[in-house]
Amino acid sequence: MWTTAFLLYLVTGTTWADSCAGRCGAGLDSSMTCQCNTNCATYGDCCSDYYALCTQRGGGGTPDVTCDISCLANQLWDNDINRVQVWEYEINHQGQTTTSSTSDQAAQSLFTYLQEENVFLKPTYSTFLALLDNYTPSTSVAESQDAAEWIEIDAFLDAILATDVMNHLYNFLVEHGHVTDATSYREVIKELWFNLYARSSSGPINSSGFEHVLVGETSSKVSGFHNWIQFYLEEKKGAINYQGWVSRSQPLNIVAARFTWNGLSKAKGSFFVGVSPEFDIAIYTACALTKPNSSCSFTMAGTSLTIQTYDVAHKSGLQVATAYPNI
Ligand SMILES: *[C@@H]1O[C@H](CO)[C@@H](O)[C@H](O)[C@H]1NC(C)=O
Ligand SMILES: *[C@@H]1O[C@H](CO)[C@@H](O)[C@H](O)[C@H]1NC(C)=O
Repeated sequence: MWTTAFLLYLVTGTTWADSCAGRCGAGLDSSMTCQCNTNCATYGDCCSDYYALCTQRGGGGTPDVTCDISCLANQLWDNDINRVQVWEYEINHQGQTTTSSTSDQAAQSLFTYLQEENVFLKPTYSTFLALLDNYTPSTSVAESQDAAEWIEIDAFLDAILATDVMNHLYNFLVEHGHVTDATSYREVIKELWFNLYARSSSGPINSSGFEHVLVGETSSKVSGFHNWIQFYLEEKKGAINYQGWVSRSQPLNIVAARFTWNGLSKAKGSFFVGVSPEFDIAIYTACALTKPNSSCSFTMAGTSLTIQTYDVAHKSGLQVATAYPNI
């Protein structure tokens, strides 16, 4: 029987080595002039018919292989080179608790040690830290973002968009039709995480995805707050009282903690411990865009995980209302 490639050659004169016909998802083959797997977009060596034949965006029918959410999650996990190394920090989980418990199961803090001098100098961390004081936790206060703050946001975006983690997310979003090029990618990330919104139709413009998920907000209790760096910093300042863990997921190093922040309580706040800021942004962005308002389930590092995201109601573009690991 004639192979697809041979028929292709007869019809178009294109040879096997120039085309993705029959090769979608194939591993790197340096005997070929171009490649047909998700890494080719990163390396710029995709065959000219790669998007048409191998990806949903190209309308190429049923793709042989696409990088689904589990595939992406593993790429993010495996390439998160800015993640804190085991010798750079130490945490102390202490007692287990429940969301309804009234006693403190943890006399000590969650974090006992972090090698700040290594970790906080990395560009995605230093630019992340610069953003944290731009937000007022109280949701009843209107937020504003002045030009100086947008400069800090752009510096953070520049830093994270230069990482492998965000590059893998880019390839995934292109393949699944959520962005078309680097410019639209940056705009989508800005809209999801940084453009301010009101949480209720008559309420003040008091929130953003970044503020809610990575910084935390307060009203009569704590809402959001799903980032380990902010937890570490606020705990070090004495503003957080860690009261024990409600659940944990290993080896992903996720903790769902019960704690108070400035005296207000959070019955269960879950976050990845030790991941880079770009990892949080990437995994939540993938779920927010592909499974808005629902559970996003995948396998990462051999472990099943569900991330829940919600989209804010009022705008045409998706904006993150919240995003967290559901453990
Ligand atoms: C934003 O402010 C309004 C009005 O004070 C408040 O009702 C709303 O709850 C705030 N946002 C959040 C997330 O609570
Ligand atoms: C998510 O839910 C909100 C609130 O129900 C709704 O307004 C919004 O349109 C939903 N977004 C999507 C993408 O379904």
